[in-house]
Amino acid sequence: MENYPRGHVVVVTYPAQGHINPLLQFAKCLASKGLKATFATTLYTAKLIRADGVNVMPISDGFDVGGFKEAPSVETYLETFKTVGSRTLTQLILNLNNDHSSPVVNCLVFDSLLPWALDVAKNLDIFSAVLLTNSASVCSLYCHIHRGVLSFPVDQERVPLILPGLPPLGLDELPSFLACSTYHDSAYLTAIMEKFRRLEENDWVFVNSFEELENQLAEAMTGLWPVQMVGPLVPSAYVDGPIAEDRAYGGSLLKSNDDHYLKWLDTKAPNTIIFVSFGSMAQIEIKQIEEIAYGLKSSKNRFLWVVKDSEQEKLPIQFLQSIDEMGCGKIVTWCNQLEILAHKSVGCFMTHCGWNSTLEAISLGVPMVAMPQWSDQPTNAKFLENVWRVGVRAKKGENGIVTREEIERCIKEVMVGEKSDEIKINASKMRDYAKRAIGKGGSSDTIINNFVEALMKGKG
Ligand code: UDX
Repeated sequence: MENYPRGHVVVVTYPAQGHINPLLQFAKCLASKGLKATFATTLYTAKLIRADGVNVMPISDGFDVGGFKEAPSVETYLETFKTVGSRTLTQLILNLNNDHSSPVVNCLVFDSLLPWALDVAKNLDIFSAVLLTNSASVCSLYCHIHRGVLSFPVDQERVPLILPGLPPLGLDELPSFLACSTYHDSAYLTAIMEKFRRLEENDWVFVNSFEELENQLAEAMTGLWPVQMVGPLVPSAYVDGPIAEDRAYGGSLLKSNDDHYLKWLDTKAPNTIIFVSFGSMAQIEIKQIEEIAYGLKSSKNRFLWVVKDSEQEKLPIQFLQSIDEMGCGKIVTWCNQLEILAHKSVGCFMTHCGWNSTLEAISLGVPMVAMPQWSDQPTNAKFLENVWRVGVRAKKGENGIVTREEIERCIKEVMVGEKSDEIKINASKMRDYAKRAIGKGGSSDTIINNFVEALMKGKG
């Protein structure tokens, strides 16, 4: 009780890896600054999470055994989570308040995919703070839709889109939810829009980004929205910060088939390895996997490639035989991505541009080859190539597949090409900005400190 003068924050996450990671990191950061922090997640994910200073507690999404996979559709999953989650999250907070050895809960921090959590906070009369898990620039696009400045799917006649604080955006540089009518009635889009409709009702709105990264956007949106940047919420970025030497978020949903990948990297020369990973959700077409395989091989660089268990059978057999014989690469089913990105032998990250992966590479100064798949990823790719200039985007061919020749070209461009030096300098600069933002007195650190101070004073 002595250590936690007043504030107790419950942080609730959507149970996917790309959401658990930033929300958990935020909880760890708040705990390190003196708040009591409880992390609420579904029963089946709670078992897998361990984080210093954070109390992990289960709630229910209505699918307690297999979660999302048990649900007949995304719509049913999100609807059921809303109903059962609202009830079990409320109960959890009431139970925590019965424990008189710790301070009462006075704030609910919730994941942007769980907009209903705002009502849980309101009904309990506690503070609410939403954490947006996309870039601020991507969030601003959804915000413009809510404000009626933009409609979706975006009218082809309007592209390239010119909007405040953003570079001109082509159709293949927009979030897929906005570019393509297939997603028009997507349940994810409904949840996203619900969150933007009610943004102003929250006591705080945070985004996992930092001012130096999206400064033009921050300036352009001043007065138009209440968003504050608290990122990058990336453990390794805190090496000189409040959570020293932290190289893991603390909750991996997938397991690796290999414990030796770091030792393998240790034997390689600095900045020579291509690390390839497409996050936790993307399913890559078999033809695309083949092109990546042979593009990597012909680049003549050694590589470490994460191919999830569910995708392994898509790997070409001859390719597998040849990498065994030549020892030119390693394929694992999962890894601690941060440890790899922080390793000195890694010189390039071929990524799907999930927002966490993008921020991780930026925080660790690793140049990128962008191969966006869906959601916010095409917009992240645009920024990394044309705004931050820390990598290049691999262009799709007419059949929607990136060819092996294009992959080889992009790897060479980043590793040794004309732009290579500039890309590496920019990547180091961005890493320094990231550190500065979360270091003592930095832009994100100051916002988080003000938040902690307000919670310590209590509500009302
Ligand atoms: C998704 C979206 O792609 C992303 O854009 C959105 O903002 C959040 O949800 P995901 O596709 O999984 O997430 O990608 P990403 O955001 O990059 O998150 C993946 C996380 O898994 C990263 O934090 C990464 O470090 C971790 N990871 C990935 C591992 O720990 N090991 C791996 O082998 C691969």
